[in-house]
Amino acid sequence: MSENLYQKLQLLESETQPLDRTDRLKAVAGPLLYWYRGNARVLPWRQDPAPYAVWISEIMLQQTRVEAVKPYFTRFMEALPDVEALASVSDDTLLKLWEGLGYYSRARNLKKAAQQIVSDYGGRLPDTKAELLRLPGIGSYTAGAIASIAYGKPEPAVDGNVLRVLSRLLASREDIMSQRVRRQFEEELAAAMPETDCGAFNQGLFEVGATVCVPNGEPHCAVCPLRSLCLAARSGLTGEIPYRAPKKPRRIEERTILLIRSGEMIAIRKRPEKGLLASMYEFPGIAGKGTAEMARAAAEEMYGGAGAARHTRSVTRLPDAVHIFTHVEWHMTGYLLEADQIPACCLAVRRSELSERYALPSAFDAYRRLINSESQSGGTA
Ligand code: ADE
Ligand code: SF4
Repeated sequence: MSENLYQKLQLLESETQPLDRTDRLKAVAGPLLYWYRGNARVLPWRQDPAPYAVWISEIMLQQTRVEAVKPYFTRFMEALPDVEALASVSDDTLLKLWEGLGYYSRARNLKKAAQQIVSDYGGRLPDTKAELLRLPGIGSYTAGAIASIAYGKPEPAVDGNVLRVLSRLLASREDIMSQRVRRQFEEELAAAMPETDCGAFNQGLFEVGATVCVPNGEPHCAVCPLRSLCLAARSGLTGEIPYRAPKKPRRIEERTILLIRSGEMIAIRKRPEKGLLASMYEFPGIAGKGTAEMARAAAEEMYGGAGAARHTRSVTRLPDAVHIFTHVEWHMTGYLLEADQIPACCLAVRRSELSERYALPSAFDAYRRLINSESQSGGTA
């Protein structure tokens, strides 16, 4: 195998007639699979690529780095070892297991999909890309990853890593953020899948993207299994490819955060079921950059509005904080309001429970930390 491989690579190096895109992609499988066998990282979801484990890991890996995912994956699999356990988990436990990973709709979709898998497929993940695609939270990439890694199906799985590798391999200057470009790569890759080892082929591409053809800094072309096929490396274009069209700037939203405190208790509430951080807990707040007076008025309104007795005893300005979402930036102004009780529209929770029981999104970390550090030092007002 290896001798044959090196003969092939030599031939390709000296190609006088350039390969077309299809043939170049078809030439990937040989050297890639050979390299992957010797270079695959040991990752917790690779030991036993059961469909459930592959699914959970791929959802976690969608927007989160491998190193960050590892401990979450292990803890999640221990708490919820199968589809049935996930389908019946409480929302609070689920969000607690997800706390810190971000993009919480991924967790809610996991549970919804698990319920669908129980009711429609008897608890076993379907094995075709078309059926997988019908489940909440599973897009083309994830469906391809599950179908190939768990079931060996010849389906491509094109994520950001794979787009970077392929666009360099083909010296394509098209915008890798464009859906059309992604679909085209998917179709071309589908035609270039090997006949066996499709899961290893896709993971080999992730692996080259993560460890060799790296996203930040110079790619390590000298040790890349695709070196002799790669047009960007050959032409010195790795600094320009992959190309991304400039992004729209993020929308900036001013928000005023109200930390309403009564003794050891603090007010939190549920966010609306739709939109950013849907159904997550939050500190109450108001849109816009509020003054201390506006913060007090907003809090008083939560007790029953104008004319009602005053409940807030003091208002203290807290440091500003910024949280960056994909399309929005929250620029937050915070106030601590000491009150004689927690408004009935909110949930009154112990400050210590903010971290332990309620999955408050990381957008509120700056204020949660403030509250917790205060409670440790005895809580001076
Ligand atoms: N990124 C996305 N899926 C992955 C996988 N299965 N292994 C390593 N990195 C990944
Ligand atoms: Fe990326 Fe270099 Fe490998 Fe080409 S040769 S795929 S640029 S690491």
